[in-house]
Amino acid sequence: MPDLKPTEILLSADRIQKRVAEMALEIRRDFPDDLHVIAVLKGAFVFLSDLIRRMPGHVSLDFMAVSSYAKGTTSSGEVRLLKDLDTTLDGRNVVIVEDIVDTGLTLSYMLANLHARGAASVKLAALLDKYERRQKEVQIDYLGFKIPDEFVVGYGLDFAERYRNLPFIAVLKNPEA
Ligand code: IMP
Ligand code: MG
Repeated sequence: MPDLKPTEILLSADRIQKRVAEMALEIRRDFPDDLHVIAVLKGAFVFLSDLIRRMPGHVSLDFMAVSSYAKGTTSSGEVRLLKDLDTTLDGRNVVIVEDIVDTGLTLSYMLANLHARGAASVKLAALLDKYERRQKEVQIDYLGFKIPDEFVVGYGLDFAERYRNLPFIAVLKNPEA
């Protein structure tokens, strides 16, 4: 395995913060009253925490953990449920919060799963869209940024559990290449 490092900054902390604040208001405008946010662990936890702090009014939270990735940088194509929700969704307006939509396998699984549980509506907020790699079509209702087909880390996103704590998003590269 080459020595990969987050060398090139793709999205600065400032750019991310500005867009996240706008997204929070877009979501609140569509759901001024009832809003139940479901974040996909672990990658979305940084985005989630900034997003909800930019949101006026009431919001409730729950978490799901699913895995479509092995330890490397390519998808295994299979989605596993690692942690389920704590509460029911009957009649709730749900917004899924996800770090990145890549192949779309994780999100198409999540959307089908949450629709089947009786939510009044299920929308998707994703910080990043790696659209060139899509295998399953998913509708992103609130999008942060479209990005090229590169493996990125930071702002919650990891490579083998590293780099989640970076405040910016960087491309993972071999510095010698
Ligand atoms: P999908 O099911 O292929 O759309 O992948 C979704 C998950 O793969 C995301 O929630 C991330 O956890 C992970 N992932 C996809 N691309 C990247 C990346 O560039 N960096 C880090 N994680 C990624
Ligand atoms: Mg994820």
